[in-house]
Amino acid sequence: MDFKKQVVDTLIKVLPEEITEEQVTKLIEKPKTSDLGDYAFPTFILAKSLHKAPKMIAEELVGQLDTTGFEKVVNTGAYINFFLDKKAFSNAVIREVLTQKDNYGNADDGKGRNVPIDMSSPNIAKPMSMGHLRSTVIGNSIAKIITKLNYQPVKINHLGDWGTQFGKLIVGYKLWGSEEEVEADPINNLLKYYVRFHKEAEEKPELDDEARAWFKRMEDGDKEALALWTWFKELSLKEFQTIYDRLDVQFDHFTGESFYNDKMDAIVNTLEEKGLLEESRGAEIVDLSEYDLSPALIKKTDGATLYITRDLAAAKYRKDTFDFVKSLYVVGSEQAEHFTKLKIVLKKMGYDWADDIVYIPFGLITTGGKKLSTRKGNVILLDDVLNDAVNLAKKQIEEKNPNLKNKDAVAEAVGVGAVVFHDLKNDRRDSFDFNLEEVVRFEGETGPYVQYTNARALSILRKAGDVDYADATDVSVTDDEAWDTIKMLQNFPDVVERAAKEYEPSVIAKYVLKLAKSFNQYYAHSKILADDEGLKARLSLVKSVSTVLQMSLALLGVKAPEEM
Ligand code: ARG
Repeated sequence: MDFKKQVVDTLIKVLPEEITEEQVTKLIEKPKTSDLGDYAFPTFILAKSLHKAPKMIAEELVGQLDTTGFEKVVNTGAYINFFLDKKAFSNAVIREVLTQKDNYGNADDGKGRNVPIDMSSPNIAKPMSMGHLRSTVIGNSIAKIITKLNYQPVKINHLGDWGTQFGKLIVGYKLWGSEEEVEADPINNLLKYYVRFHKEAEEKPELDDEARAWFKRMEDGDKEALALWTWFKELSLKEFQTIYDRLDVQFDHFTGESFYNDKMDAIVNTLEEKGLLEESRGAEIVDLSEYDLSPALIKKTDGATLYITRDLAAAKYRKDTFDFVKSLYVVGSEQAEHFTKLKIVLKKMGYDWADDIVYIPFGLITTGGKKLSTRKGNVILLDDVLNDAVNLAKKQIEEKNPNLKNKDAVAEAVGVGAVVFHDLKNDRRDSFDFNLEEVVRFEGETGPYVQYTNARALSILRKAGDVDYADATDVSVTDDEAWDTIKMLQNFPDVVERAAKEYEPSVIAKYVLKLAKSFNQYYAHSKILADDEGLKARLSLVKSVSTVLQMSLALLGVKAPEEM
């Protein structure tokens, strides 16, 4: 299956001795358009040693090459263009996909080693935001992608479940809340008390003192304080769980910030031993001015620990527990400085594994160009978004395929899939505007378009009836219209590799859009089901395409309905 190697082997025989196989491999390009062949070799580096113009070198070399195994080899200017033999190539690629099935594209880069992924991590007693949605779906997709390369992801939900805000929440609840109200609609009502607390505390600063006192009671293990906190947490988790269920995302650990309460003393001690801790206006800090950064605040004046203190403990805990090769954090780009500081402090503490911490930032979601903000009321609630998307999908299904069985389940898969796909198709660092109509379209660069293409492929296969795709007959497809699709199939393992290296699900999303598009073009231009000798090979191609479409969607965490 290694066609690049075939090109290298052919070239090396006619190149000057001092050029190594490695050099050639590096220089070979994949031309952008198929009229320039499937691989191209630029001859520029030979100009000096051969004392000739690159164009002339290319011309001469083409004359000397042994072209067996290629359709043709030509030169275009200074390049040597290799056109692969379509028959051999397509047969090998389709065969490979059909035999490997879901293992196609697997590799052993990770050797089974652990990679914790800090993902989702919403704050309890607050609605899950679109930002947490992004963290959830990006993290989930990265977990699936690296699994193909035999890394063992450990999905960790680092819940925001500790901190002074819970003191405020308890005060608010005690003043204005009731058990019935909270049970009826937990997160919205808890949010209501929290917002009201902030408003009233502006006039009555004594409320802040009360809140601090309640948080202190929490930290001291006070029964009543902890019972309330546990209750808030359980209710929040229950609501979050409905969203995780819809997204079909599971976690290995729900170890939130509170999990590190008994693990921070050790961190503070180490900081002290290493002489890194300084006092500054009553607080304990690590000075980072040599990096042009504000200090890392480790302990407040009242002894309360902070976000970064808990992250230091969490990082250490993950190294000790999972002995990770890499430790990933999928968190919005607004926290870039926090993670820079975290890594620097860990390094200062003498932990070289801090270099294996990878911060994976992502951009904001806006609506109508505006930033979303809980406080300004400019929020879109995730559940609403998913519901709206599902309703829109349902409407389109009603129009296109009113007799479809289990319409509701398909609409759920299409609507939710559309939102997830939309979130993953852009480079994760880009901010993007959220427009539901655009997200759920069945055409264009959307999840439903890919799902629809797969359903169409499956419907062809159903019409063909029982075919044994496992037998080893010739399955080459040499139609020009199929060529791009076949080449894209061959490219899939490289695409997975690149997505993993860059921690970038959009690499998969962009690829699968292109694959769907090229397959639809093939479909429009050929009679796949025509009863001639090429039928089995064409069906094998369709089967391979649907295998790779489904695998790609699965890597993004998007479902692939059989009919829609
Ligand atoms: N709960 C935080 C927030 O919503 C995100 C936590 C990210 N993970 C971490 N280890 N700091 O902003």
